[in-house]
Amino acid sequence: MIENNVITDVCVIGAGLSGLVAALDLSSKYKVTIISKSTAGMNASSYAQGGIAVSFSDDDANVHAKDTIYSGDGLCDEEIVRKYVYKAKDAVAWLRQQGVVFNLDKDENLLFTKEGGHSCSRIVHSYDETGKKIMASLQKNVNIAPNIQVYTNVTAIDFVTVDNKVTSLKVLNNEDNSIYSIVARRFVLCSGGASGLYSKSTNPDNSLGDGISMAWRAGCSVANLEFNQFHPTCLYTNSGRPVLISEAVRGEGGILCAASGERFMDKYHPDGELATRDIVSRAMLVEMQRLGVDHLYLDISHKNAKYIKKRFPGLYRNCMSYGLDITKNKIPVLPSSHYSCGGVVVDENSRSSIENLYVVGECAYTGLHGANRLASNSLMECVVSAKNAIKAIEINMPITEQSSEGSCAYLNDKINRSDCISSCLETIKKIMWDHVGIIRTVDGLCFAKKQLLAINAEVDDIFADSQIDADLLELRSASQLALLTVCSAIDRKESRGGHYNLDFQKKEAKYDGRPTIIKKSFKTIYNQG
Ligand code: SIN
Repeated sequence: MIENNVITDVCVIGAGLSGLVAALDLSSKYKVTIISKSTAGMNASSYAQGGIAVSFSDDDANVHAKDTIYSGDGLCDEEIVRKYVYKAKDAVAWLRQQGVVFNLDKDENLLFTKEGGHSCSRIVHSYDETGKKIMASLQKNVNIAPNIQVYTNVTAIDFVTVDNKVTSLKVLNNEDNSIYSIVARRFVLCSGGASGLYSKSTNPDNSLGDGISMAWRAGCSVANLEFNQFHPTCLYTNSGRPVLISEAVRGEGGILCAASGERFMDKYHPDGELATRDIVSRAMLVEMQRLGVDHLYLDISHKNAKYIKKRFPGLYRNCMSYGLDITKNKIPVLPSSHYSCGGVVVDENSRSSIENLYVVGECAYTGLHGANRLASNSLMECVVSAKNAIKAIEINMPITEQSSEGSCAYLNDKINRSDCISSCLETIKKIMWDHVGIIRTVDGLCFAKKQLLAINAEVDDIFADSQIDADLLELRSASQLALLTVCSAIDRKESRGGHYNLDFQKKEAKYDGRPTIIKKSFKTIYNQG
């Protein structure tokens, strides 16, 4: 809990994988302060099941790059892709040094699994709980690192900038709504993606892209927000909250089928169940509409029960808690919002356009993912982008440089409280799910934009009049980012990767290699050539 203004060397915003990587390495030289709006473990990294895509030979790194570029459907920055995939093996080696244990064969060599879009098995994993295992090891190391101070239940409000340079960060103590200032020499934004903007999401409920909105408010450009990735297989539950069913289940032979057992993916793509996620999610939606059902099935029950329990212990346990034995029954599944392929524009050193501000992990737009992220490239990106930022910070920040002084306390003494915050957020999520989802139309997007403009105006009024609390901060950021996402989707008059518009069904060559970039003002939405 934060109770004072803080002066530090590096302020890390977010405690997911990229945040902990940045903090651990930087703490060997600098004083590091991590803030997290939730308690430990509530981050998308911990929810990641599949693993980390990695190539250990140059030949396979080339193929890994090709697979990434193919999946990104003409929008990857190919140079960035190559730089990232070549660094994946160092990322895995570093994690093992940190104590992360991946599955090994009987000769103690790393075991690899396959997922959609990969031309071979190249995903290292820790059973089906890779993110949880990685985060547990790193968290243990953070807890004993002498130079790292962690504040949980602290929400970032806004960067304070002077002459295009971030000097401090206004933050809220979620417990008593007091506001403080963190003065730092460098800020590393690792606040995660925005998949929680949709009513059905595999992410923690609070994955609302707050950091992306905050960076945009500070003057950063954001890119490719329309490319939200939908994961094909999430457990369909009566409670409505989707639970991720790892793509590794399909990688290990699971098939997608209707209630009748009829398989359908071979109608849609030669790679069947292991086509890229955009293709599989769309095919599932079309099948669901054709059959008039709200879910389909994933079946791995043809595999040996002992093997299933050993390979997927987390999924087995989780499904059993819903009364479903996956060794005997088909798993009811539906696609759900999973990952933001776009985010805050950064360079190859994870540097944003604002001085002192680095952006890493899912909230960054590096050019790696293009229009659709390749499976298991996300944990890899978290480590590599954090390492890129660390290197740039170390080169450019002498240990002796002083933090700028001048932190100030803020008052939060307005008394009005609004009771419509949670219903407003639910409305945004429903608009996004209904109109900015797997299949979009011009009318749907325009309707969504109109609704979101009205919500943004209402939220601005509430924000001006009310005492700030964590929910209101989330709502402000969510409403802004949802609107930016819709504007990006309207601007892209074609279908590609995770953006499919029934009114523009073809991929247009004129958009090849052109991300949708939104600068600070709504009026400057443009496609960069
Ligand atoms: C999964 O296990 O299917 C999720 C991993 C990822 O998003 O890459």
